[in-house]
Amino acid sequence: MLDNFDIPDLLIQNMKAARHVAVLTGAGISAESGVPTFREAQTGLWARYSPEELATPQAFQRNPQLVWEWYAWRRELVSRAEPNLGHVALAELAGLVPQFTLITQNVDGLHQRAGSPNVICLHGNIQETKCFAREHVLDNWPESEAVPPTCPTCGSLLRPNVVWFGENLPAAALQTAVAAAESCDVFLTIGTSALVQPAASLPLRAVERGATLVEVNPQATPLTRFADFALAGAAGEVLPVLVSRLKG
Ligand code: APR
Repeated sequence: MLDNFDIPDLLIQNMKAARHVAVLTGAGISAESGVPTFREAQTGLWARYSPEELATPQAFQRNPQLVWEWYAWRRELVSRAEPNLGHVALAELAGLVPQFTLITQNVDGLHQRAGSPNVICLHGNIQETKCFAREHVLDNWPESEAVPPTCPTCGSLLRPNVVWFGENLPAAALQTAVAAAESCDVFLTIGTSALVQPAASLPLRAVERGATLVEVNPQATPLTRFADFALAGAAGEVLPVLVSRLKG
């Protein structure tokens, strides 16, 4: 566990003075909850499939049953996972600053289950489906023998409500995220490799507008050299210390 010494006083001062704190999270924040990242998850039964065979619209058109079953397996795994101390610390952080925006690339819903309000989900939500043809969103759907089941409104095949490779991000979520990046005083990037666009460009937009950039990641990323503070530790260890220092 990091002790207080490892979080610079200047960072605590900056965060205490901030009017708006924005946060971007990625798969790393859920690692301590046992949720494997997309590529790590391709073990066992699923090892022989590439992301292109499981997470693209073309893959779904080619083999909807395979894609449905892969996401059903991940949905089950995520349902059994619990939010960790990192998720809980971010839920608490929301109440400690005047304005707070939490943006996530994760589809696992663990921020929401930890109590974070108004989470901006850039890559969708694995617990929801939408129909392939007309994008009617459903958070529960009729049990059926057919795999995948079909949309009760229009009859087309149901697919997970996540953003696949090559698809656009939900426009409203992206717009809110960009606005937060451009208006915040402190931007924290947590547990993301910062390789997948457009999410990876958000921290740089914040820096361009003069925000303080903080990275929480045990590994260096392409963003590390732009960070004013790079906290090289696990989110579940660093964030509770950060929050307790802010309260002190
Ligand atoms: N705490 C903080 N960071 C961690 C931890 C931890 N305990 N464990 C791992 N990390 C870091 C890794 O060092 C890595 O930089 O989390 C990052 C995870 O990177 P990715 O697996 O690439 O996840 P992410 O950045 O969320 O990927 C973005 O790509 O796979 C697609 O759409 C999917 O939303 C995903 C997007």
